[in-house]
Amino acid sequence: METMANKIAIEKTKSSKIHDVDFDNLSFGSVYSDHMLVCDYKNGKWSEPKVVPYQPITLDPSAKIFHYGQSIFEGMKAYKDENGKAWLFRPEENWKRLNKSAKRLAIPEIPEAYFMEGLNALIQLESDWIPQNPGSSLYIRPFVFASGNGFHASPADEYKFIIACAPSGAYFSGKVKVLIEETYSRAANGGVGYAKAGGNYAGQFYPTQLAAEKGYQQVIWTDDNTHEFIEEAGAMNVFVRINDTLMTAPTSDRILDGITRKSILDIAKDQGIKTEVRKISVHELVEAAENGSLKEMFGAGTAAVVSPISGFGYHGKDYDLPELAESYASLLKKRITDIQYNRAEDKFGWRHEVTQ
Ligand SMILES: Cc1ncc(COP(=O)(O)O)c(C=O)c1O
Repeated sequence: METMANKIAIEKTKSSKIHDVDFDNLSFGSVYSDHMLVCDYKNGKWSEPKVVPYQPITLDPSAKIFHYGQSIFEGMKAYKDENGKAWLFRPEENWKRLNKSAKRLAIPEIPEAYFMEGLNALIQLESDWIPQNPGSSLYIRPFVFASGNGFHASPADEYKFIIACAPSGAYFSGKVKVLIEETYSRAANGGVGYAKAGGNYAGQFYPTQLAAEKGYQQVIWTDDNTHEFIEEAGAMNVFVRINDTLMTAPTSDRILDGITRKSILDIAKDQGIKTEVRKISVHELVEAAENGSLKEMFGAGTAAVVSPISGFGYHGKDYDLPELAESYASLLKKRITDIQYNRAEDKFGWRHEVTQ
């Protein structure tokens, strides 16, 4: 990685909000820390990033983000260990994926040093904002959007890259009941499903609202062509356990290459769990639910880590999953969070220390 020529400029806030925050009662992503990283793209290049007080941004009504949705983001976390040391989890994977998304949305890519050094400078400064209650963390939201103006439907000539942070409590959603989607699609071949493009999520809201009206908390997205194969669980990758085999769908144009997903696959293999990465049909799922071989389903993603599913609805019928005393979901969640919070050896080399 090429390093930055200059140290990142830091403008500190004059009035910290940290004492107004109730760190014992944090929800997810609704309180923001004191500072943010900002980097502007103008005249064909990214300026060096700087850290400034968290503040609103002003945009022209013709800014292309509003009209053409040229916008991408990432989601990651900073964790504090027992000794108060701050850690990130595979942050270079977020940088790589941000640039994969950037390329697909015709957004200029972010230099690695700007992302990595900028992130380190920000998290180091915001270290007191990383909560230490069990399961809590500092959620980090890097995002890039078209700030350049013009009603013409073409890529903007100016962009903003920002990293903002939100201290967040442990994510206890409980078990969720999901609906296997047969009408709407999250993504299509040749589309932008593999990118973390803002519009992908806007497109999920309406079908998710319809599922909620029927009593389901989440949608299982299926392939857009036949709706016969399961692909993702809401905004998470989906895992299924049939007998003792743990399986997940292969990544594709339509599926986000989740960092939790690939980490869970590696941990499961390391734990001696049989894994399969292959297409999983709804037919197979229904059959396994009926004959009792479907043991578990769960979503996997940065926010909730692992989100167990209690049952699924399909063709107007509900299928319940068994309650397991020793689930893969809880074992894998424990193993991955032990690495993230520096409670266990990190044989994979995933943990990344925030340096001073
Ligand atoms: C659509 C979608 N799938 C899967 C994931 C999980 O990815 P990760 O584990 O990198 O958070 C996310 C969240 O980032 C997502 O938005």
